[in-house]
Amino acid sequence: MLKLPPVIAIDGPSASGKGTVAALVAERLGFHYLDSGALYRLTALAALRTGVQLDDEAALADLVLQLDARFESSEIYLNGCCVTDELRTESCGETASKVAVFPAVRAALLARQHAFRRWPGLVADGRDMGSVVFPDAVLKIFLTATVNERAERRYKQLMGKGFGANLANLLMELQDRDARDASRAVAPLKQEHDAILLDTTQISVNDAVDFVLKNFKLAMDIQVNY
Ligand code: C5P
Repeated sequence: MLKLPPVIAIDGPSASGKGTVAALVAERLGFHYLDSGALYRLTALAALRTGVQLDDEAALADLVLQLDARFESSEIYLNGCCVTDELRTESCGETASKVAVFPAVRAALLARQHAFRRWPGLVADGRDMGSVVFPDAVLKIFLTATVNERAERRYKQLMGKGFGANLANLLMELQDRDARDASRAVAPLKQEHDAILLDTTQISVNDAVDFVLKNFKLAMDIQVNY
C-alpha cells in the first residue's frame, strides 16, 4: 500500500515537450499536475517587477516565500493577474534559469512543490523532480529530443501564438539554457540512474503519453506485488 500519493516525475531539457506530455498523462490518470518550471518563471517575473536584483540570492529567496501565485486550470496568476503568456516567453525562461542556480531559491520553492502532491496522484515536470523534489517517485522519466528538434518545436509554438521568433536565435538560446541548467552546482539537469530515457525526436505526443502510462502501470504493479 502506498502511504503517499504516487508521483510520476518527468524531467528533461527546455522545449523537449515534457510539459505537454506530463499534462496529458495527468489528464488521462485524473492526477494533479505540477509545472515546476512555472514556479521558477514566476520567481523571475516577480523579481523583474519588484526590482529585486537577479544576483541577490537572499532577496530572491524572500520573494519566493511571499510569492502570491495561483494555478487555475491552464492559467497562472501572479498577485491576482493572469501572467500565463508572459511566463512562456523566451526571456522569462532565460531569467528563470538565472534565478534557478541559487540554492536558497531552490530550497524556498521546495515546500510549494511538495504541496502539489495530493491524492489520487501527481505528475510533475521539471529538471530535478526525480532527483531532489520527489526522489521516491514511482516512475521517473527523462524526456528529451535533439536540440534542433526542440528549437523547431519552440519556433512553431511561438509562431502559433502570434509571437515573433527566429529559429537560429532560439537554437542558440536553448543551447545556452541547456548548458546553464546542466552545469549548475545544485540540482543540475541530468538523467538519473533510475530514470527511463524517452527520446521524442521521432515519436508523436500520443506515443510518448502511451509510453509513460504503460511504464506507470508496470511500476504500480511492482509496488503492489512487493
Ligand atoms: O521548464 P521551463 O523551461 O519552464 O523552466 C524554466 C527554467 O527554470 C529552466 O531553464 C530551469 O533553469 C529552471 N527550472 C529548474 N528546475 C525545475 C524546473 C525549472 O531549475 N524543476
